[in-house]
Amino acid sequence: MGHEVRGVVARGPGAPVSVEAIRVPDPGPGEVLVRVRACGVCHTDLHYREGAIGSDFPFLLGHEAAGTVEAVGDGGGALRPGDFVVIAWRDPCGSCRSCRRGRPWYCFASRNAHQRMTLADGTPLTAALGIGAFAELTLVAAGQAVKVDPAARPEAAGLIGCGVMAGYGAAVHTGRAGPGDTVAVFGCGGVGMAAIAGAALAGARRVIAVDVDRRKLEWAQGFGATDVIDAATTDPVQGVRALTDGVGADLVVDAVGLPLTYRQAFLARDHAGTLVLVGVPTPAATIELPLAEVFGRGGQLKASWYGDCLPSRDFPVLIDLYRRGKLDLDGFVSETIGLEDVERAFARMQRGEVLRSVVVL
Ligand SMILES: NC(=O)c1ccc[n+]([C@@H]2O[C@H](COP(=O)([O-])OP(=O)(O)OC[C@H]3O[C@@H](n4cnc5c(N)ncnc54)[C@H](O)[C@@H]3O)[C@@H](O)[C@H]2O)c1
Ligand SMILES: [Zn+2]
Ligand SMILES: [Zn+2]
Repeated sequence: MGHEVRGVVARGPGAPVSVEAIRVPDPGPGEVLVRVRACGVCHTDLHYREGAIGSDFPFLLGHEAAGTVEAVGDGGGALRPGDFVVIAWRDPCGSCRSCRRGRPWYCFASRNAHQRMTLADGTPLTAALGIGAFAELTLVAAGQAVKVDPAARPEAAGLIGCGVMAGYGAAVHTGRAGPGDTVAVFGCGGVGMAAIAGAALAGARRVIAVDVDRRKLEWAQGFGATDVIDAATTDPVQGVRALTDGVGADLVVDAVGLPLTYRQAFLARDHAGTLVLVGVPTPAATIELPLAEVFGRGGQLKASWYGDCLPSRDFPVLIDLYRRGKLDLDGFVSETIGLEDVERAFARMQRGEVLRSVVVL
């Protein structure tokens, strides 16, 4: 039968998004239908709209969402209608070569709904990150819907579905930030700010926030940054070194994803330190590094997809930290908006005015 609801669609590279009537099928085997209550606007949605993540237009955007289970298909596990869930873009398959080796956070065959959502005329939509939650209803694989404490506000809870989890996990899981570490984070948007919060929670003794936007640096202090560097006016490599006895940070997180910031992050790292790239580079981006420095500095150069998280393990943990007042998810919610405001929210994001605009339904 299916449902006709409103959703935010990107029709072609660079074209403004529009609110359109979309069709969402009833859940089949292994699928659940989720009534979306809130969905954050992540920079990755903008990458989709610009055609930087594949060309399978039209895209149904939105992937940072919390909602309520509306209906459960056969084999939907323990989920029941009415359950409060955060939607994950990783649902490990359990049988790919990575899952079989006990590394499900790298799963190479993560599950999504089998059925496609469509435009009203039947044109299949590509759901952003297999979610598509700038919509009143969305269809996902049952394992993508992770049950969490319903006492959390949807606007805040949904943010752990992408940006907050990715940033927190980049610092804590991929980068293994720990007590006594010095950590520098390049880019203090939603993702970088969560890396700052994660590093602070992990006991880092210094958490250095780097951005080109003064507002972000002010906010960073509220999320646990001990020091800030305005990269628009100061060389951030010299800045990080000056704050770390001249040696560089134990862990540097690049939450921007530009060749410029990657190179700076590489050079701001101490010997045997770790560099984690969590910002998503554009397909054409390349980087040249002195190989002798790659060798000579030792340590690790890593990339972090979704903060190496396991949603069913980690989402409830982050919600608990939020409920205990340790992780200020509310602080990430700069404004709540409607579906028709997503294009405006992209512009505000590009101007650096918000940490997260959150669509509330
Ligand atoms: N790896 C993952 O799993 C994952 C998940 C979600 C998002 N992302 C990516 O993370 C990146 C950040 O996402 P976001 O939502 O936080 O974006 P955002 O636009 O909110 O934040 C980006 C920040 O980088 C800052 N910045 C820009 N140029 C800079 C420079 N030269 N030096 C220092 N700071 C600079 C901006 O001022 C801004 O504060 C994006 O590329 C996004 O696609 C990755
Ligand atoms: Zn797998
Ligand atoms: Zn995202």
